[in-house]
Amino acid sequence: MKLYLDTANVEEIKTAASWGVICGITTNPSLAAKETENFNKILTSICNEVDGPISAEVTSMDYEGMVREARELAGVHKNVVVKIPVMPEGLRAVKTISAEGIRVNVTLVFSVNQALLAALAGASFVSPFLGRLDDIGHTGVELVRDIVDMIDLHDLDCQVIAASIRHPEHVPRVALAGAHIATVPFKVLEQMFKHPLTDIGIEKFLSDWKKKQGK
Ligand code: E4P
Repeated sequence: MKLYLDTANVEEIKTAASWGVICGITTNPSLAAKETENFNKILTSICNEVDGPISAEVTSMDYEGMVREARELAGVHKNVVVKIPVMPEGLRAVKTISAEGIRVNVTLVFSVNQALLAALAGASFVSPFLGRLDDIGHTGVELVRDIVDMIDLHDLDCQVIAASIRHPEHVPRVALAGAHIATVPFKVLEQMFKHPLTDIGIEKFLSDWKKKQGK
């Protein structure tokens, strides 16, 4: 399973990229709204930092607007993947722009049906939002597993991005459910490194080494 970072913050992206573990970025309008700079400028900076799929979302809700925005976003850099919500006008737009060679990440997916429709329309990625399902008392990881099974069973050309990840334990769970990618907030990526026995182990190794050096 690959890891993407879910953020529009270029400093977080630079730091995470320096750790060598992420190979793509997802953004959304809420994440973009937290930043002060113009979004196209941010998108260009992100593409300069990470050489992999960079998802940027349309905000138009009509077919013509989505197609226009998708072409504009895809024009920013060859790695831009256009994010489109799963809705009838959205999937119509997916059909048009994927036929032009623009990759699409269909977002706000909460059911296997929505994922199937997205893949059939030509989406390269589908993003089930597990945290938001957990928030309303469902088990998001089960949806991820069902979508992966459906895609594999029918040999659909679409990758599953486990999105809306809220805590580090979500990551191994979606990896075992077969997600192709997990997109994680910066805080979760930092938490993934952490284990108290690692900290204790490092401290012990260093203190033993210092004793040997007579320090
Ligand atoms: C993914 O593509 C979305 O940007 C993101 O994971 C949404 O996460 P949230 O439910 O924590 O807002």
